[in-house]
Amino acid sequence: MKKTLQMTLVFMFSLMLTNAQDITLPEVNKTGGMPLMEALNQRHSSREFSSRELPLQTLADLLWAAYGINRPEASKRTVPSSQNFQEIEVYVALKSGFYRYVAKKNLLLQIHKNDIRANTGKQDFVATAPFNLIYVANSSKLPENIDMDTYLKTSYANAGFIVQNVYLYCASEGLNVVVRGYFDSDELAKAMKLPKTHQIILTQTVGFPVIN
Ligand SMILES: Cc1cc2nc3c(=O)[nH]c(=O)nc-3n(C[C@H](O)[C@H](O)[C@H](O)COP(=O)(O)O)c2cc1C
Repeated sequence: MKKTLQMTLVFMFSLMLTNAQDITLPEVNKTGGMPLMEALNQRHSSREFSSRELPLQTLADLLWAAYGINRPEASKRTVPSSQNFQEIEVYVALKSGFYRYVAKKNLLLQIHKNDIRANTGKQDFVATAPFNLIYVANSSKLPENIDMDTYLKTSYANAGFIVQNVYLYCASEGLNVVVRGYFDSDELAKAMKLPKTHQIILTQTVGFPVIN
């Protein structure tokens, strides 16, 4: 009881330190979960999602599994990236708005207040599923002389590692998930208000299973 009160006060205090619209995530729970071999055995894509929102703790843990920092002394992450450029940025479309995951601050930084879930893909479920991830390559984090073809190939690979971490986290937590390449890049970039330096690579939907 005392611990819950303390955690609530810490959460309320951290909210006061950020923009009211940003979402300060609770401390990540880095323990437990399903054994790896079982999670691999359970991994699969689903295309049916309850509209029920994911708890903040789930968002924190999922985003850390996806792209969190696991070696703070070197600012390195749960996924590898070519030459450690870390050019992928993880964006999140929720009912309450559109956000960028800032791993160092364990924060969802609000980009704007629009609900752009329907713009994240061509399949019906994207508009009502609670959580759509958008993986974006930010070319301004790369050396200027880099070959564009090489850059995009490595960015697809780098995003793929994040996708698989999310699949495994969802398998462990009994959540439904699907990675998606079927979206209109121009429409989505416009809805995101994305600068020209940023290229959308993949999207991924997560939610609770539908209970009949
Ligand atoms: C790069 C990539 C893009 C995909 N795009 C979509 C998509 O737009 N929509 C969708 O429903 N599934 C998409 N999928 C999911 C595949 O259809 C799915 O992984 C495949 O059918 C195998 O099923 P499994 O994931 O359950 O093993 C994509 C998968 C990958 C790897």
